[in-house]
Amino acid sequence: MADLISEQDVMAALATVDDPELHKDLVSLGFIENLSIDGASVTFTVMLTTPACPMKDVIRRDCETALRRDIPQVETIDVQFDARVSRDRKIAEKIDAPFRNVIAVGAGKGGVGKSTVAVNLAVSLARSGASVGILDADVYGPNIPTLMGSGEEPGQVDDKIQPVKGHGIELISMGFLIPADQALVWRGPMIHSAINQLVTQVAWSELDYLVVDLPPGTGDAQMSLAQQLPLTGAVVVTTPQGVSVSDTRRGIDAFRKLDVEVLGVVENMAGPIFGSGAGEEVAAEMRVPFLGRVPLDAAVAASGEAGKPLILGDDASEPAQAFAEIAGRIASAISILNSRE
Ligand SMILES: Nc1ncnc2c1ncn2[C@@H]1O[C@H](COP(=O)(O)OP(=O)(O)OP(=O)(O)O)[C@@H](O)[C@H]1O
Ligand SMILES: [Mg+2]
Repeated sequence: MADLISEQDVMAALATVDDPELHKDLVSLGFIENLSIDGASVTFTVMLTTPACPMKDVIRRDCETALRRDIPQVETIDVQFDARVSRDRKIAEKIDAPFRNVIAVGAGKGGVGKSTVAVNLAVSLARSGASVGILDADVYGPNIPTLMGSGEEPGQVDDKIQPVKGHGIELISMGFLIPADQALVWRGPMIHSAINQLVTQVAWSELDYLVVDLPPGTGDAQMSLAQQLPLTGAVVVTTPQGVSVSDTRRGIDAFRKLDVEVLGVVENMAGPIFGSGAGEEVAAEMRVPFLGRVPLDAAVAASGEAGKPLILGDDASEPAQAFAEIAGRIASAISILNSRE
């Protein structure tokens, strides 16, 4: 009869497997849970710090390799994945808000696809299993409700605003505070108090990720947000065009001046019309990660108009895959930031 497999043997083998991004082994990280051994079958859960982890296949393969190498009598191995999203500690230290992580999506220039990136990021994170909200802080063009297909008005409970729900995501928009046809000249103090309202007067649930769509540019809204809500990091969207790229430099600098970590640059609308590659170049020049390239594709615009983010539709399409990869990279970058002491 083959030797019995012990828990210690399994844990010792798994202690040789490093998380490919956190560069520590799965056992020291406390990631191995629900280990059960039944004869020659081993089952366990790898408890990650984000359900959107893009490295699951690598981790599964590395676990299987280590177990077969160190415990030859193992026959079947069942690696499950689950996640408890790690927390950005500075949020809870500074304010009383139920957000584990806050991701600001900004751009140096308008019309580059910032809101489109924000909704597809949010939906992608939610689809992986995270609890997600969107705060549409774009005072000049709050169009997230349209992109999310959320026509309803938010309700009110105990003098708090109830977020609207769409595609499993909580949503609150500057557009709910002002009538669509009412042109407002936003001045700094108004922006400040409007953002304060959206952060503190809304009955948000416990959210793993709050995605904030900022107005384009480097002005008052960026500053007000960073002052009132600790940001885990910022994503800067650009198109490959020259004008957009130079504004992107300014956008990155603005976040840096506010002490906000720049998670990286997304190049949107890449292809034969606007070209491609400039987003990657500006990321390299500014020494921030390049998060990915989304092609110019009529399906992206159509999904926005239909109020159904592209990532909910055709998974195999190039832009949908690009959005999913970008979301995975952002989730990883946040897990890495939060793992630092
Ligand atoms: N990859 C893409 N391919 C095709 N169309 C796109 C793509 N990304 C965005 N669009 C379209 O471009 C327009 C601008 O996008 P979006 O509203 O997301 O940009 P924005 O940066 O948020 O703009 P604003 O400055 O007005 O807030 C929209 O009509 C959107 O559907
Ligand atoms: Mg927008």
